[in-house]
Amino acid sequence: MQDSLSRTIDYMRVSITDRCNLRCQYCMPNDLPWVEHSAILRYEEFLEICGATADLGIRTIKVTGGEPLARKGSVDFLARLKELPGIERVTLTTNGLLLEPHVAALAGMGLDGVNISLDTLRREVYQRLTGSDGLAKVLTALEKTVASGLKVKINCVPILGVNDGEVADIAALAAEIPVDVRFIELMPTASSQAFTGLSGEEVLFRLLEKYPDLSPTSERRGYGPARYYASEGLLGRIGLIAAVSNHFCGECNRIRLTSQGFLKLCLYHEQGVDLRRLLRQGAGRQELAAAIEEAILQKPQSHHFGQEDEKHGIKNMSRIGG
Ligand code: 5AD
Ligand code: SF4
Repeated sequence: MQDSLSRTIDYMRVSITDRCNLRCQYCMPNDLPWVEHSAILRYEEFLEICGATADLGIRTIKVTGGEPLARKGSVDFLARLKELPGIERVTLTTNGLLLEPHVAALAGMGLDGVNISLDTLRREVYQRLTGSDGLAKVLTALEKTVASGLKVKINCVPILGVNDGEVADIAALAAEIPVDVRFIELMPTASSQAFTGLSGEEVLFRLLEKYPDLSPTSERRGYGPARYYASEGLLGRIGLIAAVSNHFCGECNRIRLTSQGFLKLCLYHEQGVDLRRLLRQGAGRQELAAAIEEAILQKPQSHHFGQEDEKHGIKNMSRIGG
């Protein structure tokens, strides 16, 4: 459907858990308590809401977390989403730690893509940043996922003094295996305040040293706001997601569902609708769809990152799932 600004809304991100098996310093606050289980939607409830959004024109669903694979039954859930009438594409965002044993099942169900978050290729940096000595596991899972034929994208958040020296090395993964490597600007949250992210422009500048022929492509490679670049030296593409410096709110196509069943209309704004309450009060699919439709018509025009009145930017990024 279209919102009040004539943006076509056809993409929904669904966070199926607030829990994560990593503690990336810029993402997950140490003192954030887990949401209690009864407050989290059951898979049946997610499917009910996803069905209602499909009636309104949502065609692509991205399953995210926390870490989605840390929730029991997530792979079955993905398969059921794939079969939901109206839903044409289902993709997964994961940190990759628990991915390897599920690769065959994900490929078998025809999942439309896997995004793997990977900020560093150095074991010690990975351990310091995430709190886990899991880099080797992620790299094994990455290789296996690519070999299975699944479409893979790598998401990296470049941060000054943490991994900014590795930008070209991480991009070089796209020279070795057919993956797109995307660099995402660090968005302001309470946890990210202590860090300084690189802008898309700075990433491009660094990459041009190693890949001087890197140039923008007009092809569409996904359903989001990344701008893609190609080089003769790369099998995959480089994507830049300039969420902060160059906001693309005018082309926003998405809504977000938290694991507690709150439909968020914008990553930045708190505004939304409590679908869990409606569901648990006995609302049927049409009633849900009507509430979602009404909410989408209230979708804010844009974020306000970096503005004076802004305190800590996005609240609870780890619960929203990016
Ligand atoms: N800015 C940008 N990306 C972030 N992520 C978590 N916090 C932030 C932030 N402040 C990313 C993770 C992961 C995805 C789910 O969200 O790196 O790739
Ligand atoms: Fe869309 Fe909000 Fe993101 Fe802007 S900040 S692109 S309006 S979700």
